[in-house]
Amino acid sequence: MAKEKIILTGDRPTGKLHIGHYVGSLKRRVELQNSGLYDKIFIFIADAQALTDNIDNPEKVRQNVIEVALDYLACGLDPAKSTIFIQSQIPELCELTSYYMDLVTVSRLQRNPTVKTEIQMRNFETSIPVGFFTYPISQAADITAFRATTVPVGEDQEPMLEQAREIVRRFNNIYGETLIEPEILLPENAACLRLPGIDGKAKMSKSLGNCIYLSEEPDEIKKKIMSMYTDPGHIRINDPGKIENNTVFIYLDAFCKQEHFGRYLPDYNNLAELKAHYKRGGLGDVKVKCFLNAILQEELEPIRERRNKFSKDIPAIYEILKKGSETARATAADTLSEVRKAMKINYFDDLELISEQEKRYKSKQN
Ligand code: TRP
Repeated sequence: MAKEKIILTGDRPTGKLHIGHYVGSLKRRVELQNSGLYDKIFIFIADAQALTDNIDNPEKVRQNVIEVALDYLACGLDPAKSTIFIQSQIPELCELTSYYMDLVTVSRLQRNPTVKTEIQMRNFETSIPVGFFTYPISQAADITAFRATTVPVGEDQEPMLEQAREIVRRFNNIYGETLIEPEILLPENAACLRLPGIDGKAKMSKSLGNCIYLSEEPDEIKKKIMSMYTDPGHIRINDPGKIENNTVFIYLDAFCKQEHFGRYLPDYNNLAELKAHYKRGGLGDVKVKCFLNAILQEELEPIRERRNKFSKDIPAIYEILKKGSETARATAADTLSEVRKAMKINYFDDLELISEQEKRYKSKQN
């Protein structure tokens, strides 16, 4: 049988999802879901991982589980095609994590670049929670429990995938071919890899307050776009402007399609022409921002409308998550039983083991 193609990915519920999540992963997931090329798709809300650095703020995590679920459905993730579930409802993941812990060294974890930056960002210094420190291992459990072949995520997750692949290789080496080695799937468009915040800072992030959320109202979106960081040297319209590190142009790289020009800016044929004019001088920020606003409004309107519709029946959303968690749990339990077998810690379902031990002892007694 050909190897099944299985997608798994998820998000921490620490806030509503923003357009950085959208271009970095969410939009792609929906395309992959609808492509029909995958046998199974698992999308989950990583509440247990969110708690690793929010342990004193359980209410925040709890509130955001439903926000993220609404964002998922609003973007077009469809529970008929994708299993949508909550991480903490799959206790098998904890058991897998604890076995994998024996396969990873402390120094290897310390070298994980994402963990390193996160520790700095959170000022943990010498008081790093063990659960936080080891979350790359639990992430390997998330991925392997569902036998994922493909993990669509942002660039910042690359070290996590590398660590997961190492764990898989080590496990299979010691215990025999059991786990599937996952591949990362990064956005193809460079601008989508790491969408900067509206202030031009490296990353759109809730804690920096520089996000445009998927659920944002139209006037709020417009206000944020109008306040966006551009080229600080581009003071008068006739001054030549820079495209590099110019947030408005990075967003255009991420969102603009050919057809947008005909609809919203017919003086130009394509993005290259618009950029050339800006560089030459004579094109004002406001005009470019209005163009970006039209594009983003068009993209976000159907998402917002679907979100509003779904939010009218909240019990139904919890029901989707509950059903998804049940389905997911059955798959994880299956993998876990293979893992236990490979690790020789299945004692009661192995009739051969019992009869072998019986024979061994009988022969001693005779
Ligand atoms: N670490 C991911 C994030 O911060 C969330 C996550 C947890 C995840 N487990 C995962 C993503 C497994 C992909 C696969 O966004």
